[in-house]
Amino acid sequence: MEPHVTYDVVSRAAAAVRQRIGLVPQVALILGSGLSHLAERIQDAARVPYTDVPHLVQSTVPGHAGQFVAGMLSGVPVVAMQGRVHFYEGYSAAEITLPVRVMGALGAEILIVTNAAGGLDPDYVVGDVMIITDHIFLPGLAGANPLRGPNDDRLGVRFPDMTPAYDPRLVQLVRMVAHAEGIDLREGVYAMVAGPSYETQAEIRFLRAVGADAVGMSTAPEVVVARHSGMRVLGLSLITNVPGDFAGDTAPADAMHKQVLAVGEDAVPRLTRLVSGVLERIGATREA
Ligand code: HPA
Repeated sequence: MEPHVTYDVVSRAAAAVRQRIGLVPQVALILGSGLSHLAERIQDAARVPYTDVPHLVQSTVPGHAGQFVAGMLSGVPVVAMQGRVHFYEGYSAAEITLPVRVMGALGAEILIVTNAAGGLDPDYVVGDVMIITDHIFLPGLAGANPLRGPNDDRLGVRFPDMTPAYDPRLVQLVRMVAHAEGIDLREGVYAMVAGPSYETQAEIRFLRAVGADAVGMSTAPEVVVARHSGMRVLGLSLITNVPGDFAGDTAPADAMHKQVLAVGEDAVPRLTRLVSGVLERIGATREA
């Protein structure tokens, strides 16, 4: 059987992080490709490299420096993952999602997950931000679900409900923030593919036909684990490219990955405003 995650593993990893951070986080954040700068706004930050945490697997991708950053952001105690490990790096879905379990075990009740994604909806342009209203977890449907294996009821139920996977109240909250900040948002369905190769033309048509508005190589396994752990989830995709754009291009093979990172840099101020606005409102209800 492929590696799965046990209650003891989660407890040991969480204990190692807990003793390095001076707070109980309410919100967990996952900062994806190009978005890791958001973590620099966290105040009184304690940083815990993934290498210091037992059982965590290590990222191999440039732009994914791996550490937890815990502290205050917009008045809310948070723990952020600065960098994530992807399924395409060769680990199991359970292994790559252990950090989400750790953040849940530390106390986080809400997960805000961000990613870079290719736009499939023909109206989408590079730089758009999309609220993820639902996902299609292709590797998960085909067997690479992080919950595959024995279930420990202390971590969650055997058959977690995924309707809805993304919390409608948080969707409503980020809509309000976007309106107040004058930021245009898209809303749509995120399809997760295993990668690391980008999609063929036929795969792009397939994904559009089954109702996906954006495609990426992360997030869905993390959201399954967050829901299993009882967390409420908000997902935001930054549209960094339109798949097929590079078709027939003679540019270096990593042109698309470079573009993904560059668009991320450009969108950081907007995403920062969105996430800060959401946190401020969460903080306000905290005090009430
Ligand atoms: N496809 C898959 N994953 C991605 C893409 C894409 O076009 N862009 C960013 N992540």
